[in-house]
Amino acid sequence: MLDKLKEIEKSALESLASVSDPAALEAWRVAQLGRSSPLMQVFSGFGALSKEERPVVGQAANKVKVALEAALAEKTEAVKRSALERSLSEEKLDVTLPGRAVHIGRLHPSTQQLRRVLAILAEMGFQVYTSREVETDEVNFQLLNFAPHHPAREMQDSFYIEAEGRGENPILMRTHTSPGQIRAMRASAATNPQDPPSIRIALPGMCFRFEQITARSEIQFNQVEGLAVGEGITFADLKGMLTDFARRMFGQSARTRFRASYFPFTEPSAEMDIECFVCGGKGCQVCKNSGWLEILGCGMVHPNVLQNGGYDPKRYTGFAFGMGPERQLMLRNKINDIRYFWGNDVRFLEQF
Ligand code: PHE
Repeated sequence: MLDKLKEIEKSALESLASVSDPAALEAWRVAQLGRSSPLMQVFSGFGALSKEERPVVGQAANKVKVALEAALAEKTEAVKRSALERSLSEEKLDVTLPGRAVHIGRLHPSTQQLRRVLAILAEMGFQVYTSREVETDEVNFQLLNFAPHHPAREMQDSFYIEAEGRGENPILMRTHTSPGQIRAMRASAATNPQDPPSIRIALPGMCFRFEQITARSEIQFNQVEGLAVGEGITFADLKGMLTDFARRMFGQSARTRFRASYFPFTEPSAEMDIECFVCGGKGCQVCKNSGWLEILGCGMVHPNVLQNGGYDPKRYTGFAFGMGPERQLMLRNKINDIRYFWGNDVRFLEQF
């Protein structure tokens, strides 16, 4: 019987040596330590042994059982370890490979420039007031001192919206942000009609003109309008404020000049030029050899316009200005075609 146990142990350990995966390991455990394994047969055959044999065989059988269990535990560890090593070597992950970049969107260049302008104006005390894009002829033109059929309307050809019976007051897409002046003044004056509060606002937004689309003109573009109304505001305030704005926008050494101009809703009116930042004023293609770039229109708010807004022109004065973010970007970045802005070409857009 003892020889038989030795034989069981030997053949079990031999067969364990060739086991290398979890399934074979489990099969080995059932075959060698399971209820019907040769070893367990020895235990269940105890009854047939003599009194003297029992403790000897019992001890020997237990020893074999302990040895086989120990071998099983050891092998289980080895199988696990080799499985881990195999997966580490076969399923290698190269963490040094560059990842795939996630495409991050960004704001449209016009929006970026619009925000730069508004941020500077905010520092200078101008609050944003948003007005409507669909306007009446009355607010877009008439209350701004453009009489019906006045030749100044030629500067701003318009998109009209079909609507019956509106006579001299058709509906149109605003051609500039200036009608926002009237709406803002009226809203402000309404808060205290006898003693309207002073105003310092920026009016940003899209404007629309019925134009032939070319490299230099589009049918839609952004403007930022500024309006300051109060007591004792003079042309010196206008010049000082806009000169300071130009420095904040284009750099501390930016030089400016004002040229007389004409707008129906300001008097006097001017255009502000900035010294060409491409050639430094020497003259180049961008400034068409003049050394100066036109950057905005401005002027003192016309008394009729103040009146139309609910502000008594005998008591109040004010200044206004209007500028184009796309135009500023074009000058600054030497963009030679305005159509890029709404062309939706990522090769253009992703440069900003
Ligand atoms: N609204 C004018 C334009 O579109 C610009 C402007 C605004 C001029 C305010 C003077 C004052 O051309």
